Amino acid sequence: MRAPHPNGRVADGVRIRFSNFHLPCLRSKLSQVSTEPAMAFVKIIPQAHLPYNNEARDFSCNGKMICIANVWGKISAMDNECLHQGGSLGQGVVEDAKVVCPWHGWRWDPKTGVAEDHPDQKLKTYPIKVENGEVFIDLG
Ligand code: FES
Repeated sequence: MRAPHPNGRVADGVRIRFSNFHLPCLRSKLSQVSTEPAMAFVKIIPQAHLPYNNEARDFSCNGKMICIANVWGKISAMDNECLHQGGSLGQGVVEDAKVVCPWHGWRWDPKTGVAEDHPDQKLKTYPIKVENGEVFIDLG
């Protein structure tokens, strides 16, 4: 094991200067180091392709179909395949802030992924953001 350089890394992206070393401060800095994996946003579509207000559409991303919904300007992303019998939620409509499956009408909350009348059924949801005219999603 190599001895750490006086100004060396103690974790990715974190440098601690040892010249003004003060143990309580060092402990405080180390407690802020996250061991969680960093979010990995990938580009899914240009912003211009987002569904219109109170609409949903399906998009492919890294081999996975994602339903992106626009509810009063709030963009959400969740798995596209309905847990009932596999309907494509991106082909459904948005009513009362829910994405309605086109096959049998199950209603899904695009923010939580939960089916309104079947609260034990939950689709995976994904962080989504718009930057510089592009839409990015974190598939985890
Ligand atoms: S497949 Fe979606 S409600 Fe039946």
